[in-house]
Amino acid sequence: MTDSLHDLRRCTLAIDLGAARTRVYAKRAGLIVDEPSLVAVDIRNGRLVAVGGLAERMAGRTAEYVRVVRPFSGGTVVDVDMGILMLRQLLGDKARRAWLRQSKPRIAAAVPYGAGPQARRILSETLTDLGARQVELVHAPLAAAVGSAIPVGQPEGSMIVICGASETQVAVLSFGGIIAGEVLPVGGNAMDDAVLEHLRIHHDLILPHQGLLPLHQVLSEAVGEPQSNTEVHGKDVSSGLARSLNLETGGVREAMRDPLSALVSGIGRVLRRCPPDLVVDIADRGIILTGGSAVLPGLDTMLGSATGMPVHITKDPALSTVLGLGMMIESAEATEPAAEEVAELRPESAVRAASQELA
Ligand SMILES: Nc1ncnc2c1ncn2[C@@H]1O[C@H](COP(=O)(O)OP(=O)(O)OP(=O)(O)O)[C@@H](O)[C@H]1O
Ligand SMILES: [Mg+2]
Repeated sequence: MTDSLHDLRRCTLAIDLGAARTRVYAKRAGLIVDEPSLVAVDIRNGRLVAVGGLAERMAGRTAEYVRVVRPFSGGTVVDVDMGILMLRQLLGDKARRAWLRQSKPRIAAAVPYGAGPQARRILSETLTDLGARQVELVHAPLAAAVGSAIPVGQPEGSMIVICGASETQVAVLSFGGIIAGEVLPVGGNAMDDAVLEHLRIHHDLILPHQGLLPLHQVLSEAVGEPQSNTEVHGKDVSSGLARSLNLETGGVREAMRDPLSALVSGIGRVLRRCPPDLVVDIADRGIILTGGSAVLPGLDTMLGSATGMPVHITKDPALSTVLGLGMMIESAEATEPAAEEVAELRPESAVRAASQELA
């Protein structure tokens, strides 16, 4: 359990296990892993076929005996054996330095706000089995806030929204602690599912998962142009043949409305639980939107108009949690500005507050 910044500074690795991506920061080396959280195994003999980006390219294209699994969901481990197998492969030689410095390194890991004792225990045990001597758990919203340069130690309240793949974590921070928060089971995956469903039902087209990112990019570029069109390629539902479609982006936006509304409602609930002083602070500073799905087209504007508050998307939103953890584990001499900034944020109390909540 995380006790203080002192304990975090003794860690050599910082890990954020996401449903979509696994990210590892090594002290004094920076981000060493940022790969899809996927493992491909041969179910006939249990042999590993591929991990990370390679396994992602295999998804949906493999023989029946190759199973592609996601070992993590919502920051928690759902398949311990596969999770360890994947982490060993992804870390490979890159983490050898960390292992050399400490024969059994201490690892800091982000844990979702609201994760229960069992989920926290499984996460710690997974990293211990991987070879950690000690695992320090930090609430993801706290790490993401530090990674987004939010002054979490100040009395003024801030709201951080981490919109990931499997879930969205909403938290209001003040004095280094989480004052109110909620985890919503809506993230990029739910938005993707809504888009895939729309294409299947209204256009008889099955879009491969790889086709979603280009579609998101088109939607981002066409924000404010509801009538734009784009070409998508998939498989016809009835004939089973490859087919292209000239798709109106307006319908896709409409399909994403339901999951987006669930997100806005959750944020509203957290705001309603906040004392008025903090709500005024948040209105003044704006809602900080982070996580890989923060860039989902229209999310920031929808959130802004629903709450009447400014919404700011952080720089490199997908990396804020792991980089925040990284700032916490770096020693003063290694990254002076970051460490000073963290010290100013009174992270000792922030981390203590987080660990008390975890206890
Ligand atoms: N350019 C983009 N436009 C829209 N969505 C995007 C874009 N880039 C990434 N995403 C989405 O971001 C999500 C991944 O975000 P992130 O890396 O924060 O997830 P994660 O940390 O692995 O998941 P979780 O925190 O839920 O366990 C995916 O659903 C992906 O589709
Ligand atoms: Mg995440």
